[in-house]
Amino acid sequence: MRSIEQLEMRGIHKSFVGVQANRDVNLSIGAGDILGLLGENGAGKTTLMNILYGLYRPDEGEIFVNGEEVVIRNPRDSMRAGIGMIHQHFMLVQKHTVLENVGLGYEKAPFFFPLREVRKRIEAEADRLGLHVDPDKQIWELSAGEQQRVEILKALLHDADLLIMDEPTSVLTPQEADGLFDILRAMSREGHSVILISHKLEEIKAICNRVLVLRKGTVTGEAQIEDVTMADLARMMVGREIADSYPKADLPEGEAVLEVRNLNVQSDQAVPAVQDLNLTVRRNEIFGIAGVSGNGQRELVEAISGLRHVESGAVHLNGEKITNRTARTINDSGLTHVPEERIKFGIVPNLFLYENAVLKKHHRNPFSIRMRMNYPRVKKHAETLVHDFNVDAASIGVPMKNLSGGNIQKMILGREISAEPDLLIAAHPTYGLDVGAAEYIRKQLIERRDTGGSVLLVSEDLEELFQVCDRIAVMYEGRFMGIVPPAATTIEQVGLMMAGCPAGECDED
Ligand SMILES: Nc1ncnc2c1ncn2[C@@H]1O[C@H](COP(=O)(O)OP(=O)(O)OP(=O)(O)O)[C@@H](O)[C@H]1O
Ligand SMILES: [Mg+2]
Repeated sequence: MRSIEQLEMRGIHKSFVGVQANRDVNLSIGAGDILGLLGENGAGKTTLMNILYGLYRPDEGEIFVNGEEVVIRNPRDSMRAGIGMIHQHFMLVQKHTVLENVGLGYEKAPFFFPLREVRKRIEAEADRLGLHVDPDKQIWELSAGEQQRVEILKALLHDADLLIMDEPTSVLTPQEADGLFDILRAMSREGHSVILISHKLEEIKAICNRVLVLRKGTVTGEAQIEDVTMADLARMMVGREIADSYPKADLPEGEAVLEVRNLNVQSDQAVPAVQDLNLTVRRNEIFGIAGVSGNGQRELVEAISGLRHVESGAVHLNGEKITNRTARTINDSGLTHVPEERIKFGIVPNLFLYENAVLKKHHRNPFSIRMRMNYPRVKKHAETLVHDFNVDAASIGVPMKNLSGGNIQKMILGREISAEPDLLIAAHPTYGLDVGAAEYIRKQLIERRDTGGSVLLVSEDLEELFQVCDRIAVMYEGRFMGIVPPAATTIEQVGLMMAGCPAGECDED
């Protein structure tokens, strides 16, 4: 018997300066339900869940558990009521190990050698869930995917009855996501309930039994999953149809923009992460890199953009050698990089939106003349980005941290794409974007390609890679298993290469 048989949020209102994030929202979930919470970027999903988890107080409205009102003032109240939450952005202590992070606040640990008990539980959960992480690694050493796994472990160890997951699979590989879904299904059979926020409609379709759709803070739809199609869900969220193919201009092969020769790069643990790698990205080309995260993609991209030391080999941009130059020099010579963890590295949270709009470019013409910022120019640029990339913000004068997760992403992508670089490196560019915004970003990448730019796209979303790329390289343990044209390749073949089979060597049999 679980402690939460039925949970209800009734008449929830929440406003921030200039925005009504939730307006008269009702939500109800029973034991065993897996409820999908859907909505565009900025629709109010995270706000609603932060209220349930006690991070915000609602302006109006109540929360009932098994018919009785509960007052949730802080996360401790919420946890006591049996609610656990995994956040959209990682909330781990970077300089602590996995073990220490999971152990923080773990109340059942014995007084002596508490971490021994935690280690045992991590190992047990890891085996059960296939969520493997090294308990002795520090958080900063982990990829985004691995950090997410730690968050999941942490919540599971607190034995939550109702688990709130804010975009938990965005950085998981398809296999890891499937593994997580198996666990969620098992939890649901045991009477646990789950609220899952996701922009991936196929995921919602596969795992949830009910959905609730928010739009601009208000509930616009509620359904049993079997009564709706994916197209219905998309329409409920954004009010229009979404493209599933992306036409590209037919262009001749362009000259090389990026050339990487015999590149060797080490990981943070000083082991080879990129091994003797060669690649060329041409003008008018989108070059995709597929692979399970942690196979050297991050190190490769960092080495190219000057954020990580190149052990040996060479990197050329437009024929000029840029190996081991500073990130700023490389950026100034025409390469921009949208990093994997862009919320952490791509913005300054306390600066205003308009200041963030020119980050890394503020020292240059036209935003700066003789060391002085040209504020009217900067603000005009910010207005354009907000308009073009459909960023939902109260004004350009709000601190960046007030924007919703997806809107921060749109802003960063807009800033980097609008710089019209010769080479745009984008790691997981549609991670966290709603279906409408993801469609827009894919079109922008193709637009860059069609107008003489080149794009290096790192993604785990195979569908996305197949939709936009001209060539796809599959990375496994620091090497390419093959570089293939998507038109003549199947998703299954790429899947095999992701598991370590060189192209053509092991066919589906
Ligand atoms: N602390 C805050 N201060 C001011 N405004 C906020 C704050 N938190 C959220 N907002 C605003 O409330 C609205 C809803 O944001 P919320 O983060 O709930 O959206 P979301 O549905 O989770 O979007 P996403 O899919 O992009 O994560 C947005 O307009 C956002 O800018
Ligand atoms: Mg959110």
